[in-house]
Amino acid sequence: MGLLEIIRTRRSVRKFTGERVDDADVNAILEAGRWAPSGLNNQPWRFAVVRKDKTKRELAAATRYSSIILSADVLIAVFLDRLVTYDRTKDVQAIGACIQSMLLMAHSLGLGACWLGQILTKREMVERTLDVPGSFELMSVIAIGHPAASPQTGRRDSLQQLVFLREES
Ligand SMILES: Cc1cc2nc3c(=O)[nH]c(=O)nc-3n(C[C@H](O)[C@H](O)[C@H](O)COP(=O)(O)O)c2cc1C
Repeated sequence: MGLLEIIRTRRSVRKFTGERVDDADVNAILEAGRWAPSGLNNQPWRFAVVRKDKTKRELAAATRYSSIILSADVLIAVFLDRLVTYDRTKDVQAIGACIQSMLLMAHSLGLGACWLGQILTKREMVERTLDVPGSFELMSVIAIGHPAASPQTGRRDSLQQLVFLREES
């Protein structure tokens, strides 16, 4: 698949088969995140890789999307390290780029993934469960696994609706 095809066909996957995700694939996903751009190249992201059922159950209790967490083979919790932060808006933007890169990598490997943000309402609970350093702030949990079914086709606004200025050279 070309890059645009990968971007277009990526969908949030919320149900997984339970088949194991290879460690090599987890590494490739983390690697894709690591190479995201960041302001001043400060690389504010930190990752926790969760595979144990006990930890998943504890994280599942922190969100209404518990079924996605419990169905996933692996979870990657993404944190912002406030010790290296220099501009909150730019750091959060960089984390978004990092998460999108990981989602696209997962998709290109034939895996499914879902960006979980609702869990941020209980971020302290997640941070306690994973025993993270005090400077780490949860940004998202990514649920990853082998997709149980082909997800629905996506829907996006047209470029005519989105591009409000397009100058001719
Ligand atoms: C910041 C953010 C937070 C999200 N939080 C959740 C979530 O908590 N639960 C969930 O099921 N999906 C969540 N999603 C996935 C969106 O619902 C999904 O990306 C959107 O509906 C578009 O669908 P698609 O990813 O299949 O193209 C989140 C996505 C983003 C970018």
